[in-house]
Amino acid sequence: MPGDPSKNLTVATTGASGSLFLKHFLSLVVRDIRVQNVNFIASNSGLRVMAEELGLRGRNNLITQLVGKPSKKIREQSNDDIGANIASGSYMADAMVVIPCSAGTLGRIANGISVRLIERAADVCLKEKRPLVLCFRETPLNKIHIRNMYRAADAGATIFPLIPAFYFHPANLDAMAEEFACRVLAHIGLPQTGAFHWKS
Ligand SMILES: Cc1cc2nc3c(=O)[nH]c(=O)nc-3n(C[C@H](O)[C@H](O)[C@H](O)COP(=O)(O)O)c2cc1C
Repeated sequence: MPGDPSKNLTVATTGASGSLFLKHFLSLVVRDIRVQNVNFIASNSGLRVMAEELGLRGRNNLITQLVGKPSKKIREQSNDDIGANIASGSYMADAMVVIPCSAGTLGRIANGISVRLIERAADVCLKEKRPLVLCFRETPLNKIHIRNMYRAADAGATIFPLIPAFYFHPANLDAMAEEFACRVLAHIGLPQTGAFHWKS
C-alpha cells in the first residue's frame, strides 16, 4: 500500500486472456529495485493462453520467454506444490497479484477452495490481511462472476479488472498494457517513474 512498498511479491497468472499485461507487469517488477523477491506461479491454463497470445513454448525458461532475460529475483513455483513457502502464513509475502485472473480462479479464491498453490497463496493473503489484487478478465459477466467478485472483495481482495485506460492515448498495445501494469504496481505501493498521471 502507498508508503509501504511491496518488497516480496507473489505473482500468479491463470488461464484468462491478457498475457501481454502479465508480460509488462513482470518486466516492470524485474526492473524495480524495490522488489527483492518474487514467487511466480503459472497455472496450466495460463501456459495454454500464453502460448496462444504470446507464442510461448512450454514452461522451459518461462521468465526469459516472458521478459527477455532470466531474473535471479523471480522464483518459479509449481501450482501443484501446496508445500511451497507462500502456502504458509508464516512466510512473509508483502502482496499478491493475480494477472490475468480467470473466472475459475476467482471462483475458487472467493469460495475458499484452496486445492492448488495459487488459490492457497491467495487464501493466505486474505487470512493474514495482506494485499491481494485480482486482475479479473471475462466478458460478459454472469451473476456467478459478479457474486464471486463481491465475495472476494468482501473478504479483502482488490478486484482490479483487466480494463485498460484510453485517455492517455496509448500508441500501441504495449503502451496500453504497460500503463495498466503501472496502475497495479502503484496500487501495491510501487508507483513507477514515467507512469501517466492525469492533469486537467
Ligand atoms: C485462448 C483462451 C482464452 C481464454 N480466456 C479466458 C478469459 O478471458 N477469462 C476466463 O475466465 N477464462 C478464459 N479462458 C478459459 C480458462 O482458461 C479456463 O476456464 C481454465 O480452466 C482456467 O483455469 P485456471 O483458473 O486454473 O487458470 C480462456 C481459455 C483459452 C484457451
